Amino acid sequence: MDKMLITGGTPLKGEVSISGAKNAALPIIAATLLSAETQRLTNVPVLGDVTTFLRLLEKIGAKITKEDDHSSIQVKQIENCEAPYSWVKTMRATILVLGPLIARCGEAHVSLPGGCAIGARPIQLHLDGLKKMGAEIEIKHGIIHAKANRLKGAEIYFEVPTVTGTENLMMAATLAEGTTILENTACEPEIIDLANFLNLCGAQIMGAGTERIIINGVPSLGGTSYEIMPDRIETGTFMVAAAITKGDLLLKKCRPAHLLSLIEKLRAAGSNVIVEKETLRIIGNTIKAVNAKTLAYPGFPTDMQAQLMALMSLSNGQSIITETIFEARFNHVAELRRMGAQIRLEGRHAVIKGVTSLSGAPVMASDLRASASLVLAGLVAKGETEISRIYHLDRGYEAIEEKLMKVGASIKRVKA
Ligand code: EPZ
Repeated sequence: MDKMLITGGTPLKGEVSISGAKNAALPIIAATLLSAETQRLTNVPVLGDVTTFLRLLEKIGAKITKEDDHSSIQVKQIENCEAPYSWVKTMRATILVLGPLIARCGEAHVSLPGGCAIGARPIQLHLDGLKKMGAEIEIKHGIIHAKANRLKGAEIYFEVPTVTGTENLMMAATLAEGTTILENTACEPEIIDLANFLNLCGAQIMGAGTERIIINGVPSLGGTSYEIMPDRIETGTFMVAAAITKGDLLLKKCRPAHLLSLIEKLRAAGSNVIVEKETLRIIGNTIKAVNAKTLAYPGFPTDMQAQLMALMSLSNGQSIITETIFEARFNHVAELRRMGAQIRLEGRHAVIKGVTSLSGAPVMASDLRASASLVLAGLVAKGETEISRIYHLDRGYEAIEEKLMKVGASIKRVKA
């Protein structure tokens, strides 16, 4: 397994071009199952989860061609409506084929995603919604067996706002008979991106990005060309890279409007942040202690919690970070402690007492955003940090070491 070697101490300076959003590309790729026409997607990030998902889609029946700046995907017909455990265990987001498969071909056999490093990750709300739309669902030997002649519009209330749950049911409803109303939906920008793509294919979706989404079912969907939105979590990760190294980065092809809570947080933590519509400049400064509590969008994103914790490890005071979304999203704490961070866990709260410096050490990545926080700590730690199991990092960041090297980081990948 590859490792990443980082020698800390260089303030990062220069320009970084942000890639397409992983968490918009995945549902949009799943949504191509809903139409027999060709979809032309641009700004698709080249990273592990997307590569895995495209390979799964080919097994289901997609014809995929990748040209220089775009991917063409066409699913003329569903050849295989299964997503086996071998696929799902490597990527939980495979659950996103469930709604489209039932809507397109009336059945789906998708392995139940197990938990993962950050929590149990249940999907009952996905299944409850599909049942309300008329799907017959049976779980046997860890496989979800779903059948429906034609899904029917329904009124569905989510007890908890779920991002992929909202996406799964929104996709299923596009081809259902009648109108579906989704209440207490997640409001993430990636859901708006998915709805924009589907509406360009002829779907009738209103209210994406709010807590109430209305979908009028249509008989079929056409094809379109679509550019995936920029990745707001990659943007946030590079913002913290500038803050933690007291550097000066200009982030291009990003969408600051998707990151208002993080921008405010980093300004309060001492960084100077200058935003325009599609660029953001961040200049690091003295790191002030701030508290944070992860919430559903537009609150502070759980996917930025580990990265902020790396920054607060070097603050001038004490901060408390509370994780309210996932019950086990503190795997990075033990590794940051190995680098000298002073962090105490009290249930969902992490109490971080800032130290003057971190020291490089061998550490182990455990999940995608935890691995990002270890990279950030390594960029500023004294000496060398060796991060193992960086396949976690490669799942969600496109060419991260090249982008970091370009702005002055001393980082290299060591092939195992
Ligand atoms: C999406 O995961 C993202 N993944 C995650 O990003 C992100 O952390 C998460 O949303 C929260 O923003 C993708 O979009 C592919 P949820 P998802 O369903 O949809 C509970 C990353 O790093 N819940 O919104 O799986 C659940 O336990 C990844 O890129 C139920 O209780 O998350 C959690 O507490 C990590 N029952 C809360 O909802 C259900 O049926 C939010 O989870 C479904 C969810």
